[in-house]
Amino acid sequence: MAFRDLLIVGAGGFARETAAAIHDFRAPRGSSGWRLLGFLDDDPARQGTEVDGVPVLGDAEAVHKWPDALVVVCTGSPTNRWSRTRIVTRLGLPDTRWATLVHVSAVLPRTCEVGPGSVLMAQTVLTTAVRVGAHAHTMPHVVLTHDDDVGAFATLAAGVRLAGGVTVGRGAYLGAGAMVREHRGVGAWSLVGMGSVVTRDVPPAEVWAGVPARRLRSAPVPADVDVRRRGGDVDEC
Ligand SMILES: CC(C)(COP(=O)(O)OP(=O)(O)OC[C@H]1O[C@@H](n2cnc3c(N)ncnc32)[C@H](O)[C@@H]1OP(=O)(O)O)[C@@H](O)C(=O)NCCC(=O)NCCS
Repeated sequence: MAFRDLLIVGAGGFARETAAAIHDFRAPRGSSGWRLLGFLDDDPARQGTEVDGVPVLGDAEAVHKWPDALVVVCTGSPTNRWSRTRIVTRLGLPDTRWATLVHVSAVLPRTCEVGPGSVLMAQTVLTTAVRVGAHAHTMPHVVLTHDDDVGAFATLAAGVRLAGGVTVGRGAYLGAGAMVREHRGVGAWSLVGMGSVVTRDVPPAEVWAGVPARRLRSAPVPADVDVRRRGGDVDEC
């Protein structure tokens, strides 16, 4: 069986981690694994260079030069939570072009769903009836329990743990080691600090941190970012 070509948009921290795990993601249907063609990055200084031995082939628009390759966008940080949705919107690719990358050590029962363009890193555990939307990222050792609903473009940093029935809104970012009590919600585009314990609902577009988590400040969403709150609708992007 052939390998499936992959392009990673971005060449920063999470993109490099994704590249490093390329042979440890589940093989896409009908192929024997992934073949990484390279990174695509909008920073002109990176183009034409190598990052961790992987070539940076051009800017994000270069996805159109390799129409048979699948694509995953691996940008985003606590302070720039919107970059992924901006790039996905700009590229306008059909869902069939987005790669869904699930590490072989992740636990993903049949009762769970993961949307296109999402990346589940090593030791991510989904217990049952968990929905993860499109273009969401889970870093190593994330645990999502029954009936959790993680929205599109959400980012769960290493060691995040959600109790049952938790809703994470579109584009929300949960810092490393954060925990959320059962049936609570983190609103769209909000940021929860590392090590926080969320015991109350976090409204959209706010920064919360601490044990228990308290509101630090609002964090307005840029006008061009889609702020629809559609929870974990798996086929949205
Ligand atoms: C919450 C966070 C966004 C706040 O960053 P910030 O806006 O720059 O705020 P500051 O660092 O100025 O901190 C503001 C206050 O909140 C406190 N604070 C910051 N982060 C905190 C946290 N995680 N838990 C508890 N308190 C925190 C600070 O001590 C400070 O308190 P003070 O005003 O009494 O001195 C940031 O600390 C954070 O946790 N980011 C996520 C990091 C992460 O998980 N990255 C993963 C990358 S892979």
